[in-house]
Amino acid sequence: MCGIVGYVGSSSVTSRPLEVVVAGLRRLEYRGYDSAGVALVAPGTDHVIAAKKAGKLVNLIEELEARPLPDATAAIGHTRWATHGAPTDVNAHPHLADGGKLAIIHNGIVENYALLKLELVAEGVEFLSETDTEVAAHLVARAYDACGDLTEAMRQVVLRLEGAFTLLAVHADQPDLVVGARHDSPLVVGLGEGENFLGSDVAAFIAYTREALELGQDEIVTLTSSSVTVTDFAGNVVEPKRFTVDWDAEAAEKGGFASFMDKEIHDQPKAVADTLLGRTDLKGRLALDDLRIDEAVLRSIDKIIVVACGTAAYSGHVAKYAIEHWCRIPVEVELAHEFRYRDPVVNEKTLVVAVTQSGETMDTLMAVRHAREQGAKVISIVNTHGSTIPRESDAVLYTHAGPEIAVASTKAFLAQITAAYLLGLYLAQLRGNKFPDEIDEILDELRAMPAKIQEVLDRGARVREIARWMADTSSVLFLGRHVGFPVALEGALKLKELAYIHAEGFAAGELKHGPIALIEPGQPVFVIVPSPRGRDSLHAKVISNIQEIRARGARTLVIAEDGDEAVVPYADEVFWVPQAPTLLAPLLTVVPLQLFACELSTARGLDVDQPRNLAKSVTVE
Ligand code: F6R
Repeated sequence: MCGIVGYVGSSSVTSRPLEVVVAGLRRLEYRGYDSAGVALVAPGTDHVIAAKKAGKLVNLIEELEARPLPDATAAIGHTRWATHGAPTDVNAHPHLADGGKLAIIHNGIVENYALLKLELVAEGVEFLSETDTEVAAHLVARAYDACGDLTEAMRQVVLRLEGAFTLLAVHADQPDLVVGARHDSPLVVGLGEGENFLGSDVAAFIAYTREALELGQDEIVTLTSSSVTVTDFAGNVVEPKRFTVDWDAEAAEKGGFASFMDKEIHDQPKAVADTLLGRTDLKGRLALDDLRIDEAVLRSIDKIIVVACGTAAYSGHVAKYAIEHWCRIPVEVELAHEFRYRDPVVNEKTLVVAVTQSGETMDTLMAVRHAREQGAKVISIVNTHGSTIPRESDAVLYTHAGPEIAVASTKAFLAQITAAYLLGLYLAQLRGNKFPDEIDEILDELRAMPAKIQEVLDRGARVREIARWMADTSSVLFLGRHVGFPVALEGALKLKELAYIHAEGFAAGELKHGPIALIEPGQPVFVIVPSPRGRDSLHAKVISNIQEIRARGARTLVIAEDGDEAVVPYADEVFWVPQAPTLLAPLLTVVPLQLFACELSTARGLDVDQPRNLAKSVTVE
């Protein structure tokens, strides 16, 4: 939510600060796209130079082309997901104060801004915007006037702010530095040669450096071209943790695809393969060496609670079936925001698994904190290095999906299921629920999945064709049982968020308890059919469900595994996927649903990568 970029270059003015910041904003635009803005500082000027524009980044870029800005030594840039104040030019960041000497950008919410604003107004400060951020701008400007040091001014102000924030500030009097502060909101440092970078995530500067520093909670960073100084909010110097980003700028490009989402759907075989990679020993046996947690703790747990939001939560739903089956430990899956604000039964025997692509989702972060306060151990499954949630967890299992730029999650979902399955197998191994040979067998099946996912992608033309035909449809339902149920929920979510169509996912068994009333002639219904080779009667039950809706006129779009001829008489359309064990099938069956939503959104002329009202990283509660 909101993308932030900062840059400090050489002491002589150049066009690089603006170029770097605009390039960073292009890569961070997925974090918010209501408006964008930049501020530059250069020696010898008594004010910052700023430009900002409502709407997508392209509007700002056109403005910068029409009215070019001068060269500079340092710059900050912002792409906004509006919280306080409509997405207008005036409410766009940066916000200026002290007659234009200081500029600030902000990600998060200053919860006590109304009180602070009253105080400033009483002292004669005039506000231009409706944002909470402008309060911080005036406060830092006033503190700077008193102390003459931007870092110290920032330090004094952050102590007064409540809520969540990353703030970056530049001041005309100190054109060789950018000061940043973070509290419950992300900020990472990029280390260059004679230049340094700041970003909400590493995508902001990945084109220039892969060397980065993690900033901790409640830290302030002062960036010059040759130094990075980090202090806590009390002013004590702290040593940040250095890391190297394990993907490059190319991974964050569209690579010839029409959209990031299309590319990311096609990245999925690699995302699953990379997440499996390196997690077995020389004999091919499961070895989660990177999961640094006391084995005794994992042996002693008597319950697992998965906390996550949206698509990440659906990956947890899928994993629940597998982990309970393999480990015989009860697994609950709970939306992080619901978990946090009830009174869940959590103690030192509970393992909380937080699943998150961004590692920054505020709801999930709050759930993690709450769980740890109750004595639970937290393992997070995270895609983004340098993010907050792994820092606040007892251990982390990274998914290696690479950067996910499209707002709607696809490859992270598959990688999350894969990582959660590895965790489940590891627990089963550790607790003696499964013999090593059984685990090896499942691992072999998992390793076969990337090729099968590729096969589903290779067969994608038909589902895309159907999506184009259905561009005017107003409602689509999704049905599944067992692991097919969360897949149905995920299919519906993808369609809602990308195509703005009414879409609902149901457990197929629930149909007769109400939702079947929705079925009328022509209603399109996707049905995820489990393997007929499964041990129980799941398959037969789903076939009956298809018959029930067909009898009421539904148009049935069936996802079934190769060779399942039993579905053919009842399906208006079958999308075939390769055969796989029931528990692994979600890695295949969700793919046609992703392709369907992506194509249907495109056919409706919508922006697949940046759906309305959404942002990639939801850093407010
Ligand atoms: C949907 C989607 C969201 C995220 C959710 C959690 O396509 O992307 O539902 O899954 O906001 O985000 P992370 O995984 O970053 O915690």
